Amino acid sequence: MNIGFIGAGKAGFCLGQYLAEKGQALVGYASRSPGPAQEAASLTGSAYFPDPMALIKAADLIFLTVPDGLIESVWLSLADGPVAGKIFAHCSGSLSSEAFVGIESKGAQGISLHPLMAIPDKLRSHKLLAETFFAIEGPEPALSRVLGLVASLGNEVRPLDKAKKPLYHCAAAFVSNFSVALAFAGAEMLESCGLGEAQGALFRLMLSNARSIGEYGPVAALTGPVERGDAGTVAGHLAVLSGEDRELYRLLAKKLLKVAALKRPERDYASLAALLA
Ligand SMILES: NC(=O)c1ccc[n+]([C@@H]2O[C@H](COP(=O)([O-])OP(=O)(O)OC[C@H]3O[C@@H](n4cnc5c(N)ncnc54)[C@H](OP(=O)(O)O)[C@@H]3O)[C@@H](O)[C@H]2O)c1
Repeated sequence: MNIGFIGAGKAGFCLGQYLAEKGQALVGYASRSPGPAQEAASLTGSAYFPDPMALIKAADLIFLTVPDGLIESVWLSLADGPVAGKIFAHCSGSLSSEAFVGIESKGAQGISLHPLMAIPDKLRSHKLLAETFFAIEGPEPALSRVLGLVASLGNEVRPLDKAKKPLYHCAAAFVSNFSVALAFAGAEMLESCGLGEAQGALFRLMLSNARSIGEYGPVAALTGPVERGDAGTVAGHLAVLSGEDRELYRLLAKKLLKVAALKRPERDYASLAALLA
């Protein structure tokens, strides 16, 4: 399939570089600002298209790698162009293929294809794509064609019910974005201990924990006072916290209690549960 991108931001750069490195037929880029699209085209050995309609003509699969809030309006601005027979894809984690409003009536098909990764850097993040999981959703036969393409790159790719996309994206937010909130909260506490310069040690602790979760799963990886049923230590933690940090601690510890009960079904966590209630 000839592949084109409309939107030369982080996802467009990253996916385009990955596809080009894997030997896929990348026709090129169109975008709102010419500069980034020209840069992405030259980086991937493809063409810059000042006119997105020309890119659509040249491609079989067109990624709309624009911000989530613009996917529908960008699609609608293209819908009266030469779209028949084409597959359109977007990369939103939370939106479904329904963002391509009325696409089947134009003789085209639309899918969502989400790489389960954070893309902070448009030039370097593509190196992580080889190990990235993709969730795909949309109508046949476009779904099977794009699923086959992604699988042929060596990536794990699984279909997802479109009604589940917000929940799927929530799972990603919990482990990715919220771990940033936890890192920030922990760093603030270390700062209050006069150990602000030792933040790196805290983040290495996060990394080693993430490795354990990846290796053993969250239940087996759980350690600490909740897992031990140590109500005294947990009460001590609650006593030094206030406001939203205290509430966050309480809610997260309640969630950990469920994990602990799975790991140690023989243990009695009643006093800890009462403390956290
Ligand atoms: N970044 C991530 O971590 C990540 C991860 C997974 C999935 N995604 C998904 O990838 C998609 C793109 O996100 P992103 O992070 O790549 O956003 P981004 O870095 O902000 O890039 C968006 C690109 O869209 C272009 N654009 C905006 N309006 C346009 C229009 N009307 N016509 C053509 N191009 C237009 C922008 O052009 P300008 O240069 O003129 O602004 C920019 O090049 C989203 O659906 C997002 O959910 C992102």
